[in-house]
Amino acid sequence: MPLNTKRFINDKVKEIKNKAGKSRVICATSGGVDSMVCAFLAHQALGKNLIALFIDDGLMRENEPQTIAKILRKKGIKTVIIRTAKVFFKALKGKEDPEEMRKAFRHIFYKTLGNAVKKYRANYLIQGTIAADVKETKGKIKSQHNVLSQIGISPKKYGLSIIEPLVKLYKPDVRKIGKTLGLPKIIYERMPFPGPGLATRVIGEVTPQRVKIVRKATVIVEKEIKKLKPFQAFAVLLNDRATGIKKGKRAFGNIIVIRSVESKNAMTAQPTKVPFKILEKIQKRIVREIPQVTKVLYDLTPKPPSTIEYI
Ligand code: XMP
Repeated sequence: MPLNTKRFINDKVKEIKNKAGKSRVICATSGGVDSMVCAFLAHQALGKNLIALFIDDGLMRENEPQTIAKILRKKGIKTVIIRTAKVFFKALKGKEDPEEMRKAFRHIFYKTLGNAVKKYRANYLIQGTIAADVKETKGKIKSQHNVLSQIGISPKKYGLSIIEPLVKLYKPDVRKIGKTLGLPKIIYERMPFPGPGLATRVIGEVTPQRVKIVRKATVIVEKEIKKLKPFQAFAVLLNDRATGIKKGKRAFGNIIVIRSVESKNAMTAQPTKVPFKILEKIQKRIVREIPQVTKVLYDLTPKPPSTIEYI
């Protein structure tokens, strides 16, 4: 049965109000569709008692903290940006195994939220976990950053009580809710962006320098592929190097992969049939604008056997 978005919103607003009462609540927003929908929903239920937290962990896309805070504040949502990149990079230092990286990210993420909840004397954390996050984590495909109790980790460990209003929904319904809630179109139509951010697109160690390379490439890929309206498109930095020629000299540079996929609910995905002209333009821009890169590839693999992200 198709989702009745108005009824869903009314039910969830009631549920959040009943749980939270007059207490203060924090919503963790990464700028992705799910967490933004969650923030707007919680605002409808709680008004001034809601604080949206944007954790600037150094792993976000270009200008993301400012862009997202502006949208939240325009809606009248009290928004706090926590600048804590150093702590995240320290936690990720020396880690190359994807699950180790994901778990380190998850730990610091909830620790940061636990501290914020204490600081702002909030009683609850609202977060935008959706059905696919839980399914993949429980299925041991990968540990999504926002799944705890479903795999036996008590949020109390971080001093948190968690509310997850979207946990039964998949992405298309989340977008519909976002539209009904009055989110800006650029948000409810936005490509998904994972909570651990660009760390899911850096193979090998996640350092500020390596994130900077993939961030620049991401801007280019998103801009040039946007008109094809893929489900999700981004750049990935590999852990290998390739010999190239830059300014007439040998250069042993970085390798960037362009990833673009079509999907309905992120559980399966097909590579986008990107016209070669667009791929060529992206390649030229990446090699020209990011001096450290000597090779650009396009990923043709569907999910399964690949996943959408790289870690
Ligand atoms: P995968 O890579 O598992 O991704 O095929 C499926 C969808 O989930 C997003 N993704 C995440 N989202 N926390 C999130 O909030 C995570 O840890 C995470 N890992 C992957 C991914 O971007 C894709 O849309």
